[in-house]
Amino acid sequence: MKKIIPICLVAFVLVTLTGCMSEEEKRKELLTTNDEMPIIQEVYKDYFPIGAAVPYTIIQSTQDAKFFAKHFNSMTCENEMKPNSVQFSQNMFTFGNSQKMVDFAVENNMRTVGHCLVWHNMNPVWYFKDKNGFMDPNLESTRELVDQRLKNHIEKVVRYYEDQDHVIERWDVINEVIEETESDGWRKTYWTEYLGTDVVAKSFQYAHEADMMDGEKNLRLFYNDYNTYDPKKRQYIYDMLKGLIDDGVPIDGMGMQVHIGLKYPEVEEIAKTIDMFASLGLDIEITEIDVDIYDVVKESQPMLTEEIDIALGHRYADLFNMLKTKKDVITGVTLWGFYDGWSWLNLTQFKALTPAYPLPFDRVLNPKWAYWGIVDPSKLPPREEGLQF
Ligand code: GLA
Repeated sequence: MKKIIPICLVAFVLVTLTGCMSEEEKRKELLTTNDEMPIIQEVYKDYFPIGAAVPYTIIQSTQDAKFFAKHFNSMTCENEMKPNSVQFSQNMFTFGNSQKMVDFAVENNMRTVGHCLVWHNMNPVWYFKDKNGFMDPNLESTRELVDQRLKNHIEKVVRYYEDQDHVIERWDVINEVIEETESDGWRKTYWTEYLGTDVVAKSFQYAHEADMMDGEKNLRLFYNDYNTYDPKKRQYIYDMLKGLIDDGVPIDGMGMQVHIGLKYPEVEEIAKTIDMFASLGLDIEITEIDVDIYDVVKESQPMLTEEIDIALGHRYADLFNMLKTKKDVITGVTLWGFYDGWSWLNLTQFKALTPAYPLPFDRVLNPKWAYWGIVDPSKLPPREEGLQF
């Protein structure tokens, strides 16, 4: 009895104090990291793996790495698996940092996504050159050489990870070949200059052959692109994917990047795009989510105000609520980074001095409203407090 009284007293005081917490204090508590806050990957365990793309630096920082592995169960290397990282010099494959990242993912029971085998950016400078400089794309011999280089790169990189107990679950085989402002919808790149649009089918074929070298299919092979919800671009992509499927090209899925703004596009359009690609029988991955506030905020006044932060929270909530309804076709969701301090949007050319705020955690790893939008939108302050667009 003697013990019960003080316990009751403490409980009473605690309840009263919590009850007395001002709205501001409650909000502050929600926006401060603590051990009780929901863990993102647990909240999504019945939906899909949820990951982030990170640079090697994150893995090197004990605090960031721990936080990353706690909340996410899928890892994409931001740049470490791209061609200029793994084959900077011809035929000298260097997997150092990506290997350490893969080891980290394995140790922490995370899925590893391969990104990416073929792209028009971040290629080694020698790719389209010989010792005399750029090679003439009209010559059969140079086209063959570029084709061989494509095949060799894909084969070596795919096999390197396949031989480690199939550590990579799926690859973004080829990235961003559609450009809707071109009259034929194809982005003009060195790849298309040398290999034409066949570069897409070839890339999938080479990746598939590399996967099958041990006699079994372990990899899922994806096409990946941005602004896929743009109706014109979406149609070009759909037609290309359908053509590949009809031709028997070994493609398993469509990767939708989802680098979006606060206002554009409507979540409905993203949903429609998922349905459209899924109707082809493809798996869907949401590969690179972030939300840039500067489609609404003036870059001359770069600040995350409370209103914008709340609006960002609702934007994330709307997006993730919709993604949850598509869990039957979505095989994974990845954010492009997880905290604002490490986002490519801090570094983009025209915003070099503009701090970015596109992710669920802030620069010191405190949750933002965007985090609550992902894990529990019921905690968000009312939408009216955020700006309406
Ligand atoms: C594209 C690429 C990513 C990354 C982002 C932002 O979306 O697919 O690998 O480079 O741009 O930098």
